[in-house]
Amino acid sequence: MFADAAKALVALRAAKPAFLPPSPIPREGRLDDRLFKYGYQNYSELFSARQQLHLGLLAEAIECLEGDVREAFSIAFSDHLTTNNLLCGYAGDWRRLSPLFSIRAFRHIARPVEINPWLRKNGRGTFPNAVRAIQRASKALLAPQEPTRAGAVRPVHDQASGSWDMRRADAQNIAHLADASIGLVLTDPPYFDYISYSELGHFFVPWMARFGLIDKSCLASFPADQLAAISKSPDAAERFTAGMTRAFKEIRRVCKEDARIVFTYQNLDGRGWEALAKAMAESGVIPIKTFPLLGDCGTRLHRRERSISWDAIVVCKAGAANSWIAPPDLVGQATTTLSRTWSKKVLAAGLDFSESDATNISFAEAIVIAAGTASKQGATAQVRPRRAAQ
Ligand SMILES: C[S@@+](CC[C@H](N)C(=O)[O-])C[C@H]1O[C@@H](n2cnc3c(N)ncnc32)[C@H](O)[C@@H]1O
Repeated sequence: MFADAAKALVALRAAKPAFLPPSPIPREGRLDDRLFKYGYQNYSELFSARQQLHLGLLAEAIECLEGDVREAFSIAFSDHLTTNNLLCGYAGDWRRLSPLFSIRAFRHIARPVEINPWLRKNGRGTFPNAVRAIQRASKALLAPQEPTRAGAVRPVHDQASGSWDMRRADAQNIAHLADASIGLVLTDPPYFDYISYSELGHFFVPWMARFGLIDKSCLASFPADQLAAISKSPDAAERFTAGMTRAFKEIRRVCKEDARIVFTYQNLDGRGWEALAKAMAESGVIPIKTFPLLGDCGTRLHRRERSISWDAIVVCKAGAANSWIAPPDLVGQATTTLSRTWSKKVLAAGLDFSESDATNISFAEAIVIAAGTASKQGATAQVRPRRAAQ
């Protein structure tokens, strides 16, 4: 069957040169050169001949569809790609296929696992299941629900129904939003250099370009506007700070006076927190509170010893640029009171709170303290002249 598939693929490619999209793997601007070390030059080599035949035929069928339905099937196809390639392994303890990116990186698999892509019921990432996931998402959008603290779900009544606007854009330029128009910014910026999203995401580009969902110009390189740092380069921290400053300045510009800016962050070596703090201070984003939130609870597959499970959530207000000074040296900072308090609380609840979790929340606390100290000094400075006048 493998040999037949390989033969059929050769015949189809000869008859239709565009049967598979061009898929060179970009070499420039990478954090991780594993794919090249494994010997790959093109993403198409990450699929067996049988998988290539299946994907090419499926893509042709999707191209016969139109409008929203075609787009929905293309997105299901993209999901389907991660479970139908030669970097899929078998997760013995879970007794199921472990898809590409289950460890958020490319990983060589000595004995790849191939699923039957057309299984209708069981099977992680079969095409029928990938389509069903899109159907569930679509249903959830039409009748949104949210979990309650008691463990049930309740319907969410969307007050502003019809007024949403969703776009893919560069956070450093949100010119479509007016000054002082936003009450709450919720965001999840890149964690300095932790995960190379642009590199991983590029795996999908050849097919998404073929479906017309993104521009073909994306094939040659990673997005120029991406903010994550290439940590090996000597100016990584400066470049990250400059990019995050541009993004935070835009966020600050669109915020109403009493707005809140809330984001989640994790970085272990302190450089990422230092860079972030500088960008915030320069933009007038003032951190006022931090607490940990369990992030990677369901993804044990990619846990490493030094993994952070509890993201630091940072709540900020909008203020004047440079109204606080970012602490210059967070690296090597001792564990703080807040991290000890949370560590006790979390461990008492029977959950893990590692050294890394403690370090991360300590960095967050250090910047909240720095901003608080500055605002107290500011308040004293305002009081004094009044006393003098009395
Ligand atoms: C920590 S991840 C957020 C992941 C997201 N919360 C999720 O669950 O998919 C940071 C994200 O920021 C994106 N990013 C990087 N530079 C950006 C930019 N200039 N504008 C907008 N997003 C950017 C990355 O591609 C990545 O998806």
